[in-house]
Amino acid sequence: MNEAILSCQHVWKLYGPDPKAYLQSRDVPPSLDEIKGTGFIPAVRNATFDVHAGEILIIMGLSGSGKSTLVRCLSRLVDPTAGEIFFEGRDLLNASPKELIDIRRHKMGMVFQHFALLPNRTVLENVAFPLEVQGVGRANRETRAREMIELVGLDGREKYYPRELSGGQQQRVGIARSLAVEPDVWFLDEPFSALDPLIRREMQDEFLRLQSMLKKTIVFITHDFDEAIRLADRVAIMFEGGIDQLGTPEEIITSPATDYVAEFTKDIPRDKLLTVGSLMEAVDSMEMVGEGLRHDEKLHDVAHAILTSSGPNRVVDEQGNTIGAIRRSRVLDTLFGKGN
Ligand SMILES: Nc1ncnc2c1ncn2[C@@H]1O[C@H](COP(=O)(O)OP(=O)(O)O)[C@@H](O)[C@H]1O
Ligand SMILES: [Mg+2]
Repeated sequence: MNEAILSCQHVWKLYGPDPKAYLQSRDVPPSLDEIKGTGFIPAVRNATFDVHAGEILIIMGLSGSGKSTLVRCLSRLVDPTAGEIFFEGRDLLNASPKELIDIRRHKMGMVFQHFALLPNRTVLENVAFPLEVQGVGRANRETRAREMIELVGLDGREKYYPRELSGGQQQRVGIARSLAVEPDVWFLDEPFSALDPLIRREMQDEFLRLQSMLKKTIVFITHDFDEAIRLADRVAIMFEGGIDQLGTPEEIITSPATDYVAEFTKDIPRDKLLTVGSLMEAVDSMEMVGEGLRHDEKLHDVAHAILTSSGPNRVVDEQGNTIGAIRRSRVLDTLFGKGN
């Protein structure tokens, strides 16, 4: 596992009258019911997790579950009620206002669903804007902005104004602008949620293409599980301010930590997500049949072989060594449930 770029330790954000005093008055952290009973809004409850260098961590949850608040705490656009946050080893909550501004300007990139492009500035000027704020001279910032515009596929539109662009194109400008400062960590808060499904898919592909080149450390919010499993290395599922589970999409789907997570993920097409390896078991090799299915194949692609075989199918690694077997019954239970 790569080093942690961001580390969040027991972070809380409650809204209401003097939430700090309320939390400090407690010996043990209050439960969700207690918090609600006292009239506080539990925007973030006791969040502890790391964001690793180069990963895409997706924060998922229904509207109002605290996703934006949590991510805003990570850049201290929102001040947590309690907890600690370390960014590249620096204590973010004790950073001076000047340090904070510096960190945000030089090390963090942000894209929001309703991002504000500057209406009276061209695409080029919009993308160059964060560099202008940094005090970078015109020639340098425009060179850099042109590179970013090309990166997101908008070359030729440098002189357009935001109103002359489609929603998808505007979002590309927002992405280019957020990347102009070469951030160490990139926050995206539902960047594609307002786009039509087809454009949205195109933007997801584009995003993955960019990430394959840039290898940024990314915290990406969405309320759409399909989007999450397409993009995520790991997913955190939030429920009323708490992180119910954080893991790979496979882990979350095969071993949901709470009833809520199970309910939340029940409609996900498992066959396209799960690999053979995720359902593999130790089986006596005498029982195994078949030439061997690769552990990293998706169930969807090998379902026929598994479902029509006379015994547990052999599973092999990249070198062709047997590493386990997969049973038809396990596949059926996972894909279709146990009939309840
Ligand atoms: N400034 C605020 N004052 C009071 N309550 C807020 C404020 N910001 C957010 N909340 C509440 O905190 C909860 C989490 O909000 P938010 O982080 O925006 O959720 P999400 O991004 O998952 O939709 C919600 O109940 C919201 O109403
Ligand atoms: Mg939000």
